[in-house]
Amino acid sequence: LSLCAVVLVVAYLLGSFPTGYIAVKQLKGIDIREVGSGSTGATNVLRTLGKGPGAVVLLIDCLKGVTAIALAYQLFKLAPLYNFIPPTVDANLWQPCLATLAGLAAVLGHSKSIFLGFSGGKSVATGLGTVLAISWQVGLASAGVFAVVVAISRIVSLSSITAAIAVTIFMLIFHQPLPCILYAFFGGLYVIFRHRSNIERLLAGTEPKIGQKVTVEA
Ligand code: G3P
Repeated sequence: LSLCAVVLVVAYLLGSFPTGYIAVKQLKGIDIREVGSGSTGATNVLRTLGKGPGAVVLLIDCLKGVTAIALAYQLFKLAPLYNFIPPTVDANLWQPCLATLAGLAAVLGHSKSIFLGFSGGKSVATGLGTVLAISWQVGLASAGVFAVVVAISRIVSLSSITAAIAVTIFMLIFHQPLPCILYAFFGGLYVIFRHRSNIERLLAGTEPKIGQKVTVEA
């Protein structure tokens, strides 16, 4: 039990690492939470610093999610990454349960960072990392949905919300264990909940597209 608590705390701290905040503070000397959407995520870094830093923050935030789940499996000496969750539910459910709890801790850490007074991002990149580590097929398929929607709409939040819904569907299609399906469902709901202000702007038709020089304070 104590090892489980350690994994969850470490996963939360990993998720809490404020990549976007540090990048903007270091490169522009400002608090990212006071510009653009106010989110510390890669999209707001893209808005504030441009494509390169946005891509680096996206990658690091994604790796936080991958690492949290990989760590859970390594510490418990389970099967190697990408093989650790059997495609059918014939193994103990506690293995995927533990992985998804570590994922949840990382996702919560990213959006409620202990280093930023419990503020942060919208958990899309970190959430994608956790999904990739649980099932790379589900992760890639969901990223594909994101890419298609962003190519058509040029609106990142709309793409994130669509992908958050798609994750649960892909978990079902790729026959993932029940804890992973539940993780996708509730994690997806949480990500959508984090997009409340975006949803209001989407409905009002004021959500900025990529590259638009619009200030959208949260
Ligand atoms: O990943 C977050 C994205 O979906 C929305 O970000 O900064 O436009 O609120 P932002």
